[in-house]
Amino acid sequence: MNIALFGFGNVGRSFVKLLERQRAVYPFRVVAIHTAHHGTAYDLRGVSADTPFGPAAASAGEFLDKANAEVAVEITSLSPHDGEPAISHIREAFARGIHVITANKGPIAHAYRELRNEASFRQLLFRFESTVMDGTPVFNLVRHNLPGLTINGFSAVFNSTTQVILEKLREGLPLAEGVRAAQELGIAETDASFDTDGWDSAAKAAALANVLMDAGVTPLQVDRTGIGHLTPHALANLEGNTQRVALVARGWSTANGVQLSVKPELLHLDDPLARLQGTSNLLQIDTDCMGTLGILEFNPTVEQTAYGLFTDLVDIARSI
Ligand SMILES: NC(=O)c1ccc[n+]([C@@H]2O[C@H](COP(=O)([O-])OP(=O)(O)OC[C@H]3O[C@@H](n4cnc5c(N)ncnc54)[C@H](OP(=O)(O)O)[C@@H]3O)[C@@H](O)[C@H]2O)c1
Repeated sequence: MNIALFGFGNVGRSFVKLLERQRAVYPFRVVAIHTAHHGTAYDLRGVSADTPFGPAAASAGEFLDKANAEVAVEITSLSPHDGEPAISHIREAFARGIHVITANKGPIAHAYRELRNEASFRQLLFRFESTVMDGTPVFNLVRHNLPGLTINGFSAVFNSTTQVILEKLREGLPLAEGVRAAQELGIAETDASFDTDGWDSAAKAAALANVLMDAGVTPLQVDRTGIGHLTPHALANLEGNTQRVALVARGWSTANGVQLSVKPELLHLDDPLARLQGTSNLLQIDTDCMGTLGILEFNPTVEQTAYGLFTDLVDIARSI
């Protein structure tokens, strides 16, 4: 199965390495890569470390026409304000009969209904497991294992970068040190202010609400406060010995639709959301038939994001 990549940063490089490791069993091949500043590469035998990048394709359409791929993987930088250009990349792929996988939460947060309907109309598959909690099954868990379930709300800590930053602040280091540490791990957004200002969590919250609660919201509707204002001193004063601050995302159904918030919250240490360490994430979903379900991801790295893309690819390969 031939694959075209939009974006080739931390996630893309990890994904290509994973495909190489899996090749004996899963014959997936990346045949084209399109980037913003590093040009475009095509190689029908499979792009390798030696494949040269030439001048950038003039448009996403031109790139896809030349790539000759069956699946497009959208892993460009997050744009939490409008989801572009990723939404347009996905539409260009659908228009050419190409299935789409994305780890970019922008399109799911801004245009899920339209993209889902367009894929369905064209009998194409659209998968996005890595948009929330990397490769940990969230959407696939609900799709495959929880039929007929109603999700009434959720609470989560699922921005690893802010978890890393808060740890650094607790050590007395400035916020910039935490950002640097997250960037070294390859987990920060291209623009790390999207992590610290809560945009990444807002986009994930909107994506969850759109897919699991049919909310039809965007990140712009999330009541959002980030952690950019926190200092080591302010954090120590707030937390004391029995409480922890975390950037918490919440969603809940109301008579007027789904409400969403992202805020630094002061949580008692008994709260599971307060007890996460490292880059770990926790999502709790409130359901009608299963009470509250918790999905815990221990210390994810960019490799788990790549694995989520891989599971989507296998899902598509098995379904067509
Ligand atoms: N890193 C993680 O742990 C993680 C986890 C879950 C989801 N994600 C999501 O995965 C996506 C990629 O993350 P990343 O960490 O790989 O980011 P990254 O390292 O900053 O790489 C972004 C890539 O996108 C390319 N790009 C940006 N705008 C583009 C455009 N208009 N057209 C074509 N290419 C474009 C960049 O090209 P240039 O290098 O040439 O500028 C670069 O190759 C993001 O949407 C992110 O939210 C990441």
